[in-house]
Amino acid sequence: MDTTEISKDNIVSTPKDEEETWDEELQELVQTLPKERNWINADHLYFYQGFWCPSGALKAVISFQKHFQAHDTDIIVISFPKCGTTWLKALTFSVVNRNQFAREENPLFRSGPHQLIRFFEYDLYLENPSPDLENSSLYPPRLFSTHVPYPSLPPSMKDSNSKIVYICRNPMDMFISLWFFTDKLRVENSEPLSLDEAFELFCHGTFGCGPFFDHVLGYWKASQENPNKILFLQYENLKEDIISQLKKLAMFLGFPFSEEEEKHGVVEEIAETCSFANLKELAVNKNGVHTFGFPHNTLFRKAEVGDWSNYFTPAMVERLEKLIQENFDKSGLTFKLSSQSPKDACA
Ligand code: A3P
Repeated sequence: MDTTEISKDNIVSTPKDEEETWDEELQELVQTLPKERNWINADHLYFYQGFWCPSGALKAVISFQKHFQAHDTDIIVISFPKCGTTWLKALTFSVVNRNQFAREENPLFRSGPHQLIRFFEYDLYLENPSPDLENSSLYPPRLFSTHVPYPSLPPSMKDSNSKIVYICRNPMDMFISLWFFTDKLRVENSEPLSLDEAFELFCHGTFGCGPFFDHVLGYWKASQENPNKILFLQYENLKEDIISQLKKLAMFLGFPFSEEEEKHGVVEEIAETCSFANLKELAVNKNGVHTFGFPHNTLFRKAEVGDWSNYFTPAMVERLEKLIQENFDKSGLTFKLSSQSPKDACA
């Protein structure tokens, strides 16, 4: 494993600083919440509304819930961390805004996907408890993003005609991706978390935004009940056939590709611009640190389906398969565990 450590000096706002800004009401609330140490040593997790919220984001989550007013035209990119958020942001931005600029002038060449579609709880409401979002987008419609679970979304987002695109990933690859990512975020001189320790925490759901299964099931069920509002995508399907998935995304968002565009290769161009190979090599994604403290380059690692098989022991496979079955058995949701699927599909 690459054990590159980051210095605290690179982090714009450390979770500890953030806790010092909490008012009395929030201090009282957290006294009532179960608390755990986060995988990243400087941070805590609070079990808030059924999910483990990183302490650095808690105040912002609450402000977002209280103050955000959705517009019918809003588009929200939602995911569980490490499931392909960066990719889906790049694709959504490019699909929606493709007529605003020439291909070679796509803002993705100058700004990271997370700068173009900002998180409510890690950017907008972290910087300001009541930001003015009325004209927050250079190119309407407004595009936002969050990792907050479905039950905790602000009411106006559920009640409006705004659209949600959700991406999930098979839990094995997601877990390995998270393990590498958190190791990169490890503060100086702290002990790395072993794979076994991390796996234990993952199975118990005690990590930022966890439990994974509840998050995915929440959006899966909501998308089944309201398919015009929530598009449920899977990382493995995008890897397998990005063109058809892009067309599906564009259609759902109300920006379908015309025959003319398809003939001129616009779909392929967007797929190429947003590809892992392209984004990873852009200077903007190699340098810089996100407001929440992660260097942009930590978002690009391997981007493979089935990488988990290089790390999992048979006992880990057995345990996670059992958990997948227990949680998703009756849901109708299945996961492709390798690029050889569907025979490896697990439910
Ligand atoms: P790996 O760690 O398995 O490589 P998120 O964006 O939700 O944080 O997810 C990060 C994962 O998505 C990482 O997976 C990363 O390499 C992968 N990824 C980032 N950009 C991608 C892209 N354009 N296409 C495919 N995968 C991408």
